[in-house]
Amino acid sequence: MGGTCRWEEPSLPCAAAPHDSSRTSLEAQNQTFLLKTNSHASRLPWVQPSEVDLNAVRIAVLGLGEAGYNMHMPALAQMRGIELVGACDIDLDRRANAAKAWSVPVFDNLEKMLAEARPEMLIVATPPDSHARICLQAIAAGCHVICEKPFTSTLEEADTVMAAAAAAGRRIALNHEFREMPIFRAVLDEIGGPRGDQIVFAQLWQHMDMAPWMEKGWRGSMQRRTLHEGGVHLVDYLLALFGEKPHAVSATMSACGAQEPGADVGADAVAIVSLEFSRGRLAQILQHRLCKGETQYFELRADTRVASYRASFGGRARVTAGLYRSTVPHLRVDYGVSGLAWREVGNKRTLLARNPKEPRVVSTRNVLERSLAAFASGSAPPASAQDGRDALEVINACYEAAAIGRRIPVSGTNSAEPALASDSKGG
Ligand SMILES: NC(=O)c1ccc[n+]([C@@H]2O[C@H](COP(=O)([O-])OP(=O)(O)OC[C@H]3O[C@@H](n4cnc5c(N)ncnc54)[C@H](O)[C@@H]3O)[C@@H](O)[C@H]2O)c1
Repeated sequence: MGGTCRWEEPSLPCAAAPHDSSRTSLEAQNQTFLLKTNSHASRLPWVQPSEVDLNAVRIAVLGLGEAGYNMHMPALAQMRGIELVGACDIDLDRRANAAKAWSVPVFDNLEKMLAEARPEMLIVATPPDSHARICLQAIAAGCHVICEKPFTSTLEEADTVMAAAAAAGRRIALNHEFREMPIFRAVLDEIGGPRGDQIVFAQLWQHMDMAPWMEKGWRGSMQRRTLHEGGVHLVDYLLALFGEKPHAVSATMSACGAQEPGADVGADAVAIVSLEFSRGRLAQILQHRLCKGETQYFELRADTRVASYRASFGGRARVTAGLYRSTVPHLRVDYGVSGLAWREVGNKRTLLARNPKEPRVVSTRNVLERSLAAFASGSAPPASAQDGRDALEVINACYEAAAIGRRIPVSGTNSAEPALASDSKGG
């Protein structure tokens, strides 16, 4: 899928010359490094300081909103052996808050931060339509990048960024942090990725009271709000779980008549997506943004031939009693302050994992640490640029399927597989 980027290659700001990559601490793993205990860690009593020592990597954060300020900054504050050399936002108040909370040098533009703070790695936490341009600028200045999701707006942009990174010898990772959240990681470790071929069916669902037309700022103005911006987490997790891309998708998306009469709104308030994996195995995503009852951000059920694996993100505290279609009565207590994962066979449950407090900070920290370690060792990060591109490709196919009302093959897979194939010998 080659293509031309919508933007021109950014010209390097004169002050932000590329670093001498031969001297970056990321690549110099075998040397002795200054390990710093982060002085901000005591501000976050709910998260244990990390056990992982990194290589005195110089890190900067661009964008100090929901993701930058509430996820990356606290995650960085818990990491050992890094140097937080700068944080940048065009918003004065957000810069001031960051400077006060994290004692970090702040900048009002990226060029200045790249030139003066000289980061080796940039965390990109600005709105999605800026990601490609900023990634290119960071790569040109010699940085590795950890980019917020969704990776880019188009596949062409993703290709351009990935080609630029490869040419410059820089690495890109994505903050698809659900892969590294304890409850979802536990399910991946049991049956996902290389073992994903044992899954026969998976369901992911999200119920939220957040109609696209009620959202403010850049989110509210996105045409592809629900599945592309928020649903990328669900799509990415499914690809990680099955360890492959689906070969075809079908989708229906609608505002369900819930918008104000005559309002010109995006139509993906509810998205119902079916994904067909190899050997006729299926998955379904339901994103429901019109829920006025109890909401849940991310629920998972993945079935193999022998068990169901469940993960429920969000607080769960329930006591239930009953028969559950069995002859054996039971009393069950479910308790996970911010999420639980378990294995189910009939009415028998085995706990797999509980989420810690602040699970998104912890999972973002896991992504950052594991990505940095992968950059240093030359191995794959938890979510690579290719993973970000794959999710985007599947999402694009879903929107196309919804628009034309047909099943759409996903490129780079065996799309010749028949729809709803029933290979009883498989999986
Ligand atoms: N991984 C997750 O769970 C997660 C959660 C929230 C957001 N996100 C993603 O993070 C990104 C940012 O989302 P958000 O919710 O933090 O948005 P936000 O609007 O809260 O914050 C974005 C910040 O970027 C700043 N900004 C914009 N352009 C800039 C530029 N050129 N230079 C410097 N600063 C700039 C804005 O002033 C703002 O403070 C999006 O891609 C979003 O999808 C991911």
